[in-house]
Amino acid sequence: MEYVTLGKTDIKISRIGLGAWQFSEAWTKPDYSIAKEVVKKAIELNVNFFDTAMVYGLGVSENYLGRALREANVKRDDVVVVTKIPGDFLNEYDIPLAVEKSVRILGLGYIDVLLAHWPPVWHNYPTCEYARAMEKMVRIGLVRYIGLSNFPVELVESFRKCLSTVDVEVFQIRYNIVERYAEKELIPYAEKNRITVMAWSPIAKGAVTGKYTPQNLPQFQDVRSGEPVFHPKNFEKVYKVVEVLNELSKKYGKTPTQIALNWLIMASPVVVPIPGAKNPEQVVDNVGAVGWRLSQEDWLLLDRLSRDIRIVYSIRYLDREFA
Ligand SMILES: NC(=O)c1ccc[n+]([C@@H]2O[C@H](COP(=O)([O-])OP(=O)(O)OC[C@H]3O[C@@H](n4cnc5c(N)ncnc54)[C@H](OP(=O)(O)O)[C@@H]3O)[C@@H](O)[C@H]2O)c1
Repeated sequence: MEYVTLGKTDIKISRIGLGAWQFSEAWTKPDYSIAKEVVKKAIELNVNFFDTAMVYGLGVSENYLGRALREANVKRDDVVVVTKIPGDFLNEYDIPLAVEKSVRILGLGYIDVLLAHWPPVWHNYPTCEYARAMEKMVRIGLVRYIGLSNFPVELVESFRKCLSTVDVEVFQIRYNIVERYAEKELIPYAEKNRITVMAWSPIAKGAVTGKYTPQNLPQFQDVRSGEPVFHPKNFEKVYKVVEVLNELSKKYGKTPTQIALNWLIMASPVVVPIPGAKNPEQVVDNVGAVGWRLSQEDWLLLDRLSRDIRIVYSIRYLDREFA
């Protein structure tokens, strides 16, 4: 395993984390025995960086992750657990209530990193109100570090100005080889300000693993049922990258998933992908993405090919016809 430093702290995190959204009904019928095996395999392979959120099964994912870590008998200091508080809870009343509950559900004594999951959109909570309330969670010891998920740079700046004794150490952003908006502003900002970027959907929800083809696109019954990346008109563009991932996979003796994740970690030193896994085999595959590097030539080949891909997020709307 390779390790990098978390933000401006002295904590070392594994270069590949584990996303625990898969331990919820968004992806599958939650089953603790599977979650336990997934976490156990990640620990065995020296992954120490875990991601969950309050909204993942409304506590089910936090519960499974915390329980599996406790049952794996890991030393508390040897793992870094990130959870996220939804934008709707980002006010001074809900923050302490929800964070205390999350600490209790996880059962690990404290949260290593608390992220605001997304900006408050419906309630107009003032930025400084939730920034200071999150900072207070650090002061009282429920949380060690804070960060922001899905926040634009302008709002990150406003949020940071409200803080007095802590800073933002982590971003979490959608980032994968076929969806590269994060490169425009957030990743350069994170590099400049020594902020770790957790890349979510780092394998585009499975779209770049090579197992889905335009001829074999399932009608997903999970969170992917309306996912634009899998819409046939978008997926046909995604597949042009997948074909090259397949070729490189033969050249390197790695899987297409490993090539796609390796490309991501080479893209920036602050990026840490957090793929979600549904079984221990997927954990093994994802962890095999580190410990080696693509050649510069092959990295650039993928860079050029994927740079021009435009996923049309409004595709389902555009497709509708009315009399
Ligand atoms: N901050 C946010 O707003 C946000 C949003 C989304 C996710 N996240 C976090 O990011 C994590 C990862 O993102 P994600 O779940 O959206 O997508 P992802 O990691 O890109 O894709 C995960 C899916 O890909 C498939 N897969 C995983 N490893 C594989 C492998 N080695 N080979 C083949 N297929 C594999 C699995 O589904 P199948 O086997 O069914 O194909 C799995 O459910 C989540 O668990 C969550 O912790 C955060």
